[in-house]
Amino acid sequence: MEKLQAALEKARRSRGGDVVMPVPRSAPVQSIDRTTERSNALWQALPAFEVNAEHLEAHRVVTRVASAKATPFDILRTKVLLQMRQNGWKRLAITSPMPRSGKSTTACNLALGLGRQRDMRAMLFDLDLRDPSVHAFFEFSPPHGIGELLSGTVSFAEQGVRLGDNVAISMAQGRIADPTRVLLAEETAEALARVEADYDPDLMIFDLPSMLVNDDTRAFLKNVDCALIVARAGTTLYGQLDTCEREIAEQTNVLGVVLNAYRHSDPTKNDE
Ligand SMILES: Nc1ncnc2c1ncn2[C@@H]1O[C@H](COP(=O)(O)OP(=O)(O)OP(=O)(O)O)[C@@H](O)[C@H]1O
Ligand SMILES: [Mg+2]
Repeated sequence: MEKLQAALEKARRSRGGDVVMPVPRSAPVQSIDRTTERSNALWQALPAFEVNAEHLEAHRVVTRVASAKATPFDILRTKVLLQMRQNGWKRLAITSPMPRSGKSTTACNLALGLGRQRDMRAMLFDLDLRDPSVHAFFEFSPPHGIGELLSGTVSFAEQGVRLGDNVAISMAQGRIADPTRVLLAEETAEALARVEADYDPDLMIFDLPSMLVNDDTRAFLKNVDCALIVARAGTTLYGQLDTCEREIAEQTNVLGVVLNAYRHSDPTKNDE
């Protein structure tokens, strides 16, 4: 990890300094009186669903309850939360240079970990529109696809579901046609602005596709305040990470890099 950070630092310096922080998507959000009856009622009215704890754990989603396994994700949650609050940011993109790095696993763990903070409200959106997977983690098929929410055909009240009191999730029914167009569309930005205004979440997490395989994530980044990059140990190449970080930094703030699947100990001992 230190080597990775040192290499990134070196690349930043050779580009002429640190990553330039673009202007935030919006001015820092003022603390809004969250006891507004309207948003409370909207949260309560969302259909609640239950998760299968064993299925989630088998798929490495371990943050529903506090445990040793949840600790690394809890640390990530706290760091993300503090940094975003400090900057008045609410919208977090999760992406990676290449596929299969652990983006969706990280997104689900962050959302459930945030759910343990009783005074917070978090929302998770599956925006990997070509290959959605959040619904598979939760073994849930929503009554409407996320595409219908983004086009404004249905409201979040009809499409989103609630886990516990304070986590809302927008899942896909399956892949949708022309994802780049949808992610770039103004109607998508407007639909998300409506959700944010109505539900007043503390954090909106967007599980996105990988940066370097198509234009989908690039198309959507204008809608977020910052992005977390998930790199996979032993798989993600340094050049891919550098290109990914540089491209994201052109559009939004890079919150950090998560090095996933890194093992401190001897892998032959089989201790995860
Ligand atoms: N730390 C880890 N150790 C081992 N396997 C992991 C780890 N994190 C994720 N995986 C596994 O890697 C696979 C890919 O994970 P995940 O779906 O979260 O990645 P992704 O980046 O969202 O993939 P995609 O690009 O397909 O959306 C899954 O089978 C997941 O269980
Ligand atoms: Mg994924």
